[in-house]
Formats: sequence, structure tokens, C-alpha cells
Amino acid sequence: MNRNWMRAFLFFYFFVFSACFFVCKPKTKIEDRRVVIFLTKEERELVLREMRELLRSVHMIIYGISMGDYDLAYLYAKSSGMEMVNKLSAVEKTLLLKLPGDFKKLGFETHKQFDELAEVIKSRENQKIMNNLANLLSRCVSCHDTYSIQAEK
Ligand code: HEC
Repeated sequence: MNRNWMRAFLFFYFFVFSACFFVCKPKTKIEDRRVVIFLTKEERELVLREMRELLRSVHMIIYGISMGDYDLAYLYAKSSGMEMVNKLSAVEKTLLLKLPGDFKKLGFETHKQFDELAEVIKSRENQKIMNNLANLLSRCVSCHDTYSIQAEK
């Protein structure tokens, strides 16, 4: 093998190796950092559907406030409050047993904060409302940083 071939070969290996370092490594690191909760396919779908409702509420709250429609914002904040948890726990007792204690605590606190936010929305003081919303969203962020959900095989 001549020198040029050798160089090309080494370059190729170096390239693949560094590409893998940047592309593959961080991905596995991020996955490893989160605690995985195993649920059945149906239970996972139920939790994710509830999550999408939470995002819808946040969107409609911000939309309502931006349009000066505080009643709309109030209704959506209430819809993600403790009432949502009570409805879920009435039908999904086994699911609740499978969720780690800290996860449930963070979840309940988030729902309670939606109820608190609903009360603050009534004040129509935008800065106070935004302050509550920022607090509430920090819970979404910290839970998403900590947990992931996978379907049991
Ligand atoms: C107690 C923990 C927890 C809290 C609090 C929480 N989430 Fe989640 N959420 C999760 C987990 C776990 C997943 C699944 C992530 C994964 O498996 O990668 C998820 C997924 C989602 C998804 C994706 C749904 C899908 O169909 O894939 C959305 C949207 C979402 N959450 C929105 C929110 C919003 C908005 C809030 C706050 C108002 C919130 N979540 C609060 C734990 C939480």
C-alpha cells in the first residue's frame, strides 16, 4: 500500500471515529441521564395524551391573555387543574401505582399550580400571571429532564 492510500485510510478512520463521537455519544448520554418509567402501550398513550392537553392549556392561556380574553384563559387553566387528576385516578388506579412517588408529586403539584394560576388570571394582572406561568412551566421542564416513558415489551 502506498503512502497516499495509507493517509486516506487513516483520514477515513479518524473521520468516522470523530463523527461517531459527536453524533452517537451525546445521544446515549442524554438517554442515560433520564429515569425510564415502563408502562403498557395503552397507559403510555394515556399519559402522553394528558401531556398534550397540558400543552394545549398553556397555549390557550397565553392566547387568551394576549387577546384580553381572561375568561378563556381561566377555563383552560381550570381544565388542567386537580379536576383532571381526579378524573384520571378514578379510572386508572393501576397506572397511578406504577408511577414513581417523586413523579406523582411533581405531577400533582403541576396540576395544583394550574388551579392557582386560574385564580391569578382572575386578577387580570399580566405580570403576576406570567410569573405564575413561568413557575409552572419550570415544573414541566424539570420533569422532562428527569423522566422518560417507554412501553413494556
Ligand atoms: C411529572 C412529570 C411531568 C410533568 C410535570 C410534565 N410532563 Fe410532559 N411528559 C412527561 C414525560 C415522562 C413525557 C414523555 C417523555 C419521553 O418519554 O421522552 C412527557 C411528554 C410530554 C409531551 C409529548 C407528548 C407526546 O405525545 O409525545 C408534551 C407535549 C408534554 N409532555 C407537555 C407537558 C407540559 C406542557 C407540561 C407542563 C404544563 C408537562 N408536560 C409537565 C412528564 C411530565
